[in-house]
Amino acid sequence: MTDNNKTSSQPASTIWGGRFAAGPSEIMAKINVSIDFDKRLYAQDIQGSKAHAAMLAATGIISVDDERAIQGGLDRILAEIQAGEFVFKTEYEDIHMNVESRLSQLIGEAAGRLHTARSRNDQVATDFRLWVHDAMDGIGAMLQALQAALLDRAEQHADTVMPGFTHLQAAQPVTMGHHLMAYVEMFGRDRSRFADARKRLNECPLGAAALAGTSFPIDRFQTAAALGFDRPTANSLDSVSDRDFALEFMTAAAIAAVHLSRLAEELVIWTSAQFRFVSLSDAFTTGSSIMPQKRNPDAAELVRAKTGRVIGDLTALLIVMKGLPLAYSKDMQDDKEPVFEAADTLELAVAAMTGMIRDMRVNAETLRKAAGAGFTTATDIADWCVRAVGMPFRQAHHVAGRLVKLAEDKGCGLEDLSLDEMRAIEPGLTEDARKVLSVDFSVASRTSHGGTSPTNVRQAIATARKQWL
Ligand code: ARG
Repeated sequence: MTDNNKTSSQPASTIWGGRFAAGPSEIMAKINVSIDFDKRLYAQDIQGSKAHAAMLAATGIISVDDERAIQGGLDRILAEIQAGEFVFKTEYEDIHMNVESRLSQLIGEAAGRLHTARSRNDQVATDFRLWVHDAMDGIGAMLQALQAALLDRAEQHADTVMPGFTHLQAAQPVTMGHHLMAYVEMFGRDRSRFADARKRLNECPLGAAALAGTSFPIDRFQTAAALGFDRPTANSLDSVSDRDFALEFMTAAAIAAVHLSRLAEELVIWTSAQFRFVSLSDAFTTGSSIMPQKRNPDAAELVRAKTGRVIGDLTALLIVMKGLPLAYSKDMQDDKEPVFEAADTLELAVAAMTGMIRDMRVNAETLRKAAGAGFTTATDIADWCVRAVGMPFRQAHHVAGRLVKLAEDKGCGLEDLSLDEMRAIEPGLTEDARKVLSVDFSVASRTSHGGTSPTNVRQAIATARKQWL
């Protein structure tokens, strides 16, 4: 341990070390360094620097020759990184200084002019916004593919009856199409949350400099437009200290992950031997090393598990941010790992879920049997009493309850009761009442807006295809 506290033999940083006699202790270097993770921002960092250099030349702050040298150098660095030839060095701390020091190796003194009217504070805020922006688009497209898979399945099973649950107790029959369409709605809201956050993110902090703006005659509108932002940010302090875009990204990611986890949980339940509602393909399940009969829904379980990370990532950054005075604090360097992890985790989970839904086999016969079990049409008979006999619903509920009790005592289904047995409970019941006991009748009758009838489900699918695909 003591060794770690020694001052390193390294000299002070050539980039910021003007007033430093010695380099950092090894432990300081270790806690300070971010290149291992922020190298993922290389493309955005170079893009930002190129826009900045172009603006510096356009406003006459640097010469056209210097700009040309800078642009050439940056292009070369990008090519080196893409080719895997670039050596990232921890002594240069982060991506910004790794790029800048290589630039100075390549083009000499002109490299030192790139950082005019800019600081790493506005630079990293810009890079990170660009990265999160792309991540939002990428995840949005993946969620769209998942919606497409769900829509195909829903269409195929618009008429497939199954039990609908509340409290995981059989409640009323629904269709598999309707059930899957519920998730199309959820992932649609997720997409709109990312799209909404993306609009607020789309302001450019570049040119806020360290915190106060700059005395150079920069054109922030030019750099904002060149980088695809709608406008520059309005307040320099806020520009360098704001991480709302990262928090919003992870909030949307956490909610999406929760949706995935709920669907994963249903797959785990539905594939169990007690349910057998669906089966998953070989591609997304594993066997057991000891029990030959097993097919485990590992992918679904891991999608469910990984939600914890995404929620944790959001929590981590909320806690990093909560005590920070304006403007930039180094705490904010810890914003990247949670965002990268949340993005990677969510992408993997969406991909796994899309694969599972595409391959899933629905056991319609099992679902049909289960749809009627547990007296799931008891509400339908109560509704019939209201409609045909004019009974108040509360009284009708009581009648249906007594019918359920009788069937339960006899160990049969509601549809197995004779008309005489039913009339002994409520004389108003007729043969007509018995037809509402079928699960197909039940689902077909639920035609209220947003209801489970196959006609509604087909309409909802058509609407959703137009809205989301
Ligand atoms: N690596 C730093 C980060 O990610 C860049 C900004 C550093 N700024 C500073 N003043 N030390 O936050």
